[in-house]
Amino acid sequence: MCMQVVIAAGARTVLVPGMIPLGCEPQLLALYKSGEHDPESGCVTELNDLAQLHNRALNAMLHELRLAHPGLAILYADLYSAITDTIVSPRKYGFRNMPSAACCGGSAAYNFNMTAFCGAAGTTTCMDPSEYVSWDGVHFTEAANRRIACATLKINSPTLFNPSTAEARQRVIGCA
Ligand SMILES: *[C@@H]1O[C@H](CO)[C@@H](O)[C@H](O)[C@H]1NC(C)=O
Repeated sequence: MCMQVVIAAGARTVLVPGMIPLGCEPQLLALYKSGEHDPESGCVTELNDLAQLHNRALNAMLHELRLAHPGLAILYADLYSAITDTIVSPRKYGFRNMPSAACCGGSAAYNFNMTAFCGAAGTTTCMDPSEYVSWDGVHFTEAANRRIACATLKINSPTLFNPSTAEARQRVIGCA
């Protein structure tokens, strides 16, 4: 398992990313249109339940690893909460009101069309990608990645940095 490999190689601090809310991804929203959707986020419930199941199992494993390696900082990057918060309260983080559409793609629901992927003839790109969570229906925009990085830094900074360094790091990547 790769965590044991990096620990054996001498890593002292390991940040482990959790699963994203799969049911909020434009590609999967387009594929699972008929599935049950969460009323608050609009995301596909079954896929988000699956991602949360994965994250619970991952955290149980991280707990075991921390017990086995008390000298190491084994951290969790909560991508699920960072993205779900953004989808539920997009305005709070500078995104547009309906965040579950791709910036770049073919005209179809969620601006995602499997046969007309971003860059293909006839596809369109939004004016301002920084207002969108998803770039092409599969990959996050730079703005969404910044949101993830800022949320992760904020939660894990006390373990990683002294307070003034933590603030400087967050400024460097443009966290509010
Ligand atoms: C998806 O793209 C294909 C190819 O451009 C097009 O024929 C089709 O109508 C599009 N589907 C939707 C739902 O817009």
